[in-house]
Formats: sequence, structure tokens, C-alpha cells
Amino acid sequence: MKPICIVGAFLAAKVQATTLFIGTTEQGGEGSVGRWAIDTGMCLSFDGIFDKNISWADAEGGFVSGCFLYDERDCKGENVMVEARVANMPANSPINLTELEFDNRARSVECHA
Ligand SMILES: *[C@@H]1O[C@H](CO)[C@@H](O)[C@H](O)[C@H]1NC(C)=O
Ligand SMILES: *[C@@H]1O[C@H](CO)[C@@H](O)[C@H](O)[C@H]1NC(C)=O
Repeated sequence: MKPICIVGAFLAAKVQATTLFIGTTEQGGEGSVGRWAIDTGMCLSFDGIFDKNISWADAEGGFVSGCFLYDERDCKGENVMVEARVANMPANSPINLTELEFDNRARSVECHA
């Protein structure tokens, strides 16, 4: 019974993983700052000033390999990957979306375990 319980707990932790996705309207973390806690596998469409207005992005959270930004709502259309900071791993640099040709284009985001 004991090994089965450990496996079950590990799978439950993976399913419930949450990423903190951070997007700002100006380069280098400047401008308006948005922070969204997103469960892995769930799509979030940006609203208000953040829709097609994000220039810089960062993501952090355990069990997450990366987040994808999409140029249409509901995680459709062209996408680019933004790497996530994984717990206990060296931090990646925040992403300059101009370098990914995605400046002011993102309309939705989804993160993957
Ligand atoms: C973002 O990338 C663009 C294109 O490479 C560059 O011109 C700009 O200086 C960069 N901004 C920052 C804050 O690094
Ligand atoms: C983009 O963000 C800036 C800074 O927060 C804001 O002033 C501007 O109105 C936004 N643009 C749109 C189209 O929402």
C-alpha cells in the first residue's frame, strides 16, 4: 500500500501545479504589471490593457516546464514558448518579447507541466 500512496500523492501534486505568470506592458518589467496564477493546462485570455499589450514576460512555479503565449484568445493561433522558472533550479531571465517577435501580440497564455 505504501508505494501506491506515494505515487498517488505525486500525481495529485502535478495535476494541481500552479504557475505565476507575470506580464508587463513595457520592457524590463516596467509599465503596468499583471500577475496571474494559472493552473497547468488551463488557458487564460488577457483582458483590458493587457490584451495585445504585453512586452515582457516571466513565469515561475514548480513542476512547470514552460508557458505558451498565443496571438489569439482561447490559446489559438501562432504561439511562442516562455520558459518557466522551476523550483530549486537557477532562475531564467525574464523574456523580452520583441526578441521573440511577439511584442504587443499576446492574447492568451497556457502553461504546461
Ligand atoms: C528587447 O529586445 C529588443 C530587440 O532585440 C532590443 O532592441 C531591446 O533593447 C530589448 N530591451 C531590453 C530592455 O532588453
Ligand atoms: C498599454 O499599456 C499602457 C501602460 O499601462 C496603457 O497606458 C495603454 O493604454 C495600454 N494600451 C492599450 C491599447 O490598452
